[in-house]
Parts: sequence; C-alpha cells; structure tokens
Amino acid sequence: MPENVRSLNRAEPSSDLKPLVRKARLTDVGEMYRIINYYAESQRMLPKTELQLYENLRDYSIVTDASSTERVLACGALHIYWENLAEIRAIAVDPDLTRMRLGSVLVDSLLDEARGWRIERVFVFTYEPKFFGRFGFVQVEHRELPLKVYNECFHCPKFNTCDEIAMVLDL
Ligand SMILES: CC(C)(COP(=O)(O)OP(=O)(O)OC[C@H]1O[C@@H](n2cnc3c(N)ncnc32)[C@H](O)[C@@H]1OP(=O)(O)O)[C@@H](O)C(=O)NCCC(=O)NCCS
Repeated sequence: MPENVRSLNRAEPSSDLKPLVRKARLTDVGEMYRIINYYAESQRMLPKTELQLYENLRDYSIVTDASSTERVLACGALHIYWENLAEIRAIAVDPDLTRMRLGSVLVDSLLDEARGWRIERVFVFTYEPKFFGRFGFVQVEHRELPLKVYNECFHCPKFNTCDEIAMVLDL
C-alpha cells in the first residue's frame, strides 16, 4: 500500500458535524486520493491516480464540516457525458465517518448539480446498490447504457471482468 494511502488521517466521529458541500480545490486532492484509494485497496471502489483527480477536479465536490472547511470528510464527482446524461462517480466517505449521512448529503448535492445542468438521466457504477437505491436509482443491464460511457473503462484494471452494478436515475 503506498505510504500516502496508509497514512489516512483518522478522526474521531463527531455528532456535532455540520456537513457543508463545496466544489473541490487543488489543495483537497491529497485527502481525496487517500480516501478513495483506502477503499480501492480492499476492492470496494476503483482506484484513482492523482493525475486522474487533477484532470477531472472540476467534476468533484467535497463535504467539509462548517467549522473546519479545509478538511475533506467525503468526496465525489458529477461527470457529464452528453446533453442529457451524467455519471455520479467516486463517492467516498472518510472511513471513520460513514453512516453519518455525509454520503447522502453529497449525492443529494450532486443530483442538484445535475438538475442545474438540465441533465435528464444520471447513472452510477457501484458495489453499493442499496445506498444508491435510497435516492431512486434502479439497477439496469450494462448494455442499456450508451457505448460512449465505456470510454473510461478502457483504462480500468477490471475492463474484462467488470462486476460493478449499473444503476440509473431519471431526474
Ligand atoms: C457507500 C457510502 C458512500 C455511503 O455513505 P455514508 O455517508 O456512509 O452513508 P449515509 O450515512 O449517508 O447513509 C444513508 C443511508 O444509507 C444506508 N447505507 C449506507 N451505506 C449502506 C450500505 N453499504 N448498504 C446499505 N445501506 C447503506 C445507511 O444505513 C443510511 O440509512 P438510514 O438513513 O436509514 O440511517 C460510504 O459508506 C462509502 O464511502 N463507502 C465506500 C466507498 C463506496 O463504496 N462508494 C460508492 C462508490 S460509487
């Protein structure tokens, strides 16, 4: 495991958290990389390189605490594919702060962002269908999504053995 993944900055969960969602900044990339790749190490989500994060940074939002807006508690992205289609990707909550609604706050915000763009359909590839089902996402066959969304998959280590579940939400 790379040192910068292993040294994830753990924090005690606090019921006093006041989640605030904002667009990601260059200074957030280190923490985003650590949180995402912490889960990738145990195959719970796909890994991201720092290059991928910097290149797509404008897609990302993060959750912070209102009293400490520099610290990254969770991150995730909305990636637009077409005039009516976008993907929610790389949703990851600090492993010590799960089940505190941070993931929900973030997904709600990304869906609002999609609505702001007049996106009609949002999809996700995930190992967490129950979590996404709560927002109304429904499972579909991979082949029901247009071919263009598989562009990124050519770079994926699981290209030929993809076991992620495809889900869509019509806004
Ligand atoms: C999956 C994940 C994003 C959920 O975020 P979270 O902040 O822990 O979830 P929330 O607290 O917002 O949960 C909202 C609800 O979904 C439920 N839920 C959360 N994770 C769940 C799971 N894995 N399975 C079933 N239900 C789940 C919660 O119990 C909660 O229900 P409640 O409102 O009745 O209490 C987070 O656990 C995570 O980062 N997991 C690892 C990375 C990952 O799998 N990301 C998705 C890749 S696209």
